[in-house]
Amino acid sequence: MANPNIPTTPTNLDIGVLDSGESPVPSHAPISHPPIDERVQKQIDKFLYGGGRESAQKIRNFLNGTWLGEPLHVVLTDVPIGAWSVAIAFDLLDMIRARREFALAADTSIAIGLIAAAGTAMTGMTDWSDVDPPARRTGFIHGLLNLSATALFTTSLVLRKKKKKRSRTGGRICAALGYAVMSYAAHLGGEMVYKRRVGVDRTQGQAFPTEFVAVLPETELKDEKPTRALHNSVPILLVRRGERVFALAETCSHFSGPLAEGKLVGNSIVCPYHYSRFSLEDGRVLNGPAVHPQPCLEVRVRDGQIEVRKPAARIS
Ligand code: FES
Repeated sequence: MANPNIPTTPTNLDIGVLDSGESPVPSHAPISHPPIDERVQKQIDKFLYGGGRESAQKIRNFLNGTWLGEPLHVVLTDVPIGAWSVAIAFDLLDMIRARREFALAADTSIAIGLIAAAGTAMTGMTDWSDVDPPARRTGFIHGLLNLSATALFTTSLVLRKKKKKRSRTGGRICAALGYAVMSYAAHLGGEMVYKRRVGVDRTQGQAFPTEFVAVLPETELKDEKPTRALHNSVPILLVRRGERVFALAETCSHFSGPLAEGKLVGNSIVCPYHYSRFSLEDGRVLNGPAVHPQPCLEVRVRDGQIEVRKPAARIS
């Protein structure tokens, strides 16, 4: 779901009509549309949302990699990249040595890469449906380039199946072009992770106290009201439910959403940005798109103050 706090290009519908009935937009003003990446993202998001069905959420969780603790897309991308790299290597060997085994190995590697590309595309699309600007545009181009690369490798395989020598040469050229396009797409994928921090745990680097420290007077924590406290400028989420007080990192691990502005659902909190749901008991992800758990803190009440600390590391 789109981040409501990131401004997008307003449409005429967003702007609305004045009480007087006059449109605030002069009739000669050009009609502005949301950018193409935003429109495509909305359609994909709607499709994946599946009318809010629980089964759709489960599929989404699977594709995001919530169960894995890492984005599944990042793991799967290695397969087509690896398979198509092998295909190019065997094409070169085939050109030098002209052996049937090399040609067969190249064709098989392309086919394996194509099968893996389908899963990689599904997981990538699912992750991208919850990416905010400016990474959204980069991700859109990354996806289009990968689709183009897949189309080129598909054409390559079709040409290779024809028995003519000239078709095999065409197949090799298509594969080489596909590999070049795929390489640039991979570069953009890297930019999304290392520059835009998509898929990176946003709580990494936050320093939580290792000994109990007071972060909020007990009287300021209302029942069932998610509350933000600070320790050395690091936000901490506090939630009181009856006799129990829970504490988690307040910055959402997915895209830094403010969990104190989220919604309580039983013993869990739903992020206001893309609706990831985290258990208050231990910070684990119950629903994506987040894949990294929220750091969970120990809590106690002393002298009217709520105190928290990082749990001691377990030695197994
Ligand atoms: S910021 Fe995306 S789910 Fe929290």
